[in-house]
Amino acid sequence: MSILVFTKEGNALEKRCALLPENAKAYKRLGATVLVQSGLGESVGIADQEYIEAGAEIFNNRKDALTKADAVLSVDALSFEDFNLTPQTALSVSFFDPFNHQAHLNQVQSSGRSMIAMEMVPRISRCQKMDALSSQASLAGYVMVLNAMSNLNKTLPMMMTPAGTLKPAKVFIIGAGVAGLQAIATAKRMGASVIAYDTREEVAQQVQSLGAKFLQIDLGKTESTAQGYAKALTPEQLLKQQEAQAQCIADSDIVITTAQLFGRKPPVLITNEVINRMKPGSVIVDMAAQDGGNVEASVAGEIIDFHGVKVIGTGNWASQVALDASQMYGNNLQALIQDMWDAETQSLVIDDADEVLNSALLTHKGNLVNPIVKAHYAKESA
Ligand code: NAI
Repeated sequence: MSILVFTKEGNALEKRCALLPENAKAYKRLGATVLVQSGLGESVGIADQEYIEAGAEIFNNRKDALTKADAVLSVDALSFEDFNLTPQTALSVSFFDPFNHQAHLNQVQSSGRSMIAMEMVPRISRCQKMDALSSQASLAGYVMVLNAMSNLNKTLPMMMTPAGTLKPAKVFIIGAGVAGLQAIATAKRMGASVIAYDTREEVAQQVQSLGAKFLQIDLGKTESTAQGYAKALTPEQLLKQQEAQAQCIADSDIVITTAQLFGRKPPVLITNEVINRMKPGSVIVDMAAQDGGNVEASVAGEIIDFHGVKVIGTGNWASQVALDASQMYGNNLQALIQDMWDAETQSLVIDDADEVLNSALLTHKGNLVNPIVKAHYAKESA
């Protein structure tokens, strides 16, 4: 019978949690013991008592609970100090950002413990319910539009009033993946006039079906990976894109950039020179600010004023709608644990040959097992 431990998040800015009472009930039905740190749901308004009623046990002594864990589940990665308190056979499941945390990854690997990174769950149909990258990106798309709206000095919808007609705000969304499509849908619902661009031309139809226009830029051949992620452009293509979209940016009231390259630094798409061409009072939201940024001027974790244009790089977007984000993330985790569960022994089984774990597992039994992360670091050290 496996013991699942849910610890409070270490980062005070993280408002999400990895378990809702509904999930605790589902884990109990599987036959798991569910240990929840007191105050786990505080930031989303869930009291300890609700977890108790769902069948979980509340603990205050984190060290003691960790020493009993078969698996520790959280939103952000558990600190190595915490993980090192668990039995050597324990598993940690969370977001990990393996491409940017090599030292932490090395520590976990050499400790012999197993680590699943939610960003590495493969994008195959069997895994849609476990796809935390998509669930959180979708909320991020919505939140970024809200952030842009509340920093803009005009309205999004057209308003015809006796006091005059207000034109709809112009919104330009760069990157029409999961977050970008949700941002388009949200801005459209608010009545804005929306244009979008993505290097993957196949998304043009999805953009148009949301009622937005697709900006046509002929970059020649662009490629995607087998999992549907965009590949990096050549420097010439990137320059061409920057030039072709500059006028659209200058004409926009809001620009939201969501262009990411899985496992690589995001491309810089908006230079300072282009921001200088925007109207004062306009707003840019850079979803990638934490990872280097799509916008030259953006600062991770901050909203800055760049010559009258607000550039928002606050990040941690889904955490701003923490209750819904926790519900979706909790369900993603639950789907993964159910998939790994052995009903007969009522325990969690780490089968590294399984199609899902083959991709989602970072470390297992002292080895770095994820093929994509392994190749990434092998290339870096070559
Ligand atoms: P992402 O977060 O890696 O990238 C966001 C968007 O930025 C992508 O649409 C990408 O094409 C775009 N981009 C990259 N470089 C750009 C540039 N220079 N200019 C403009 N746009 C640029 O990707 P995300 O949103 O996580 O997923 C991308 C795609 O993966 C989805 O649209 C879908 O096709 C596929 N997917 C498949 C799933 C499945 O279950 N089969 C689940 C989720 C996504």
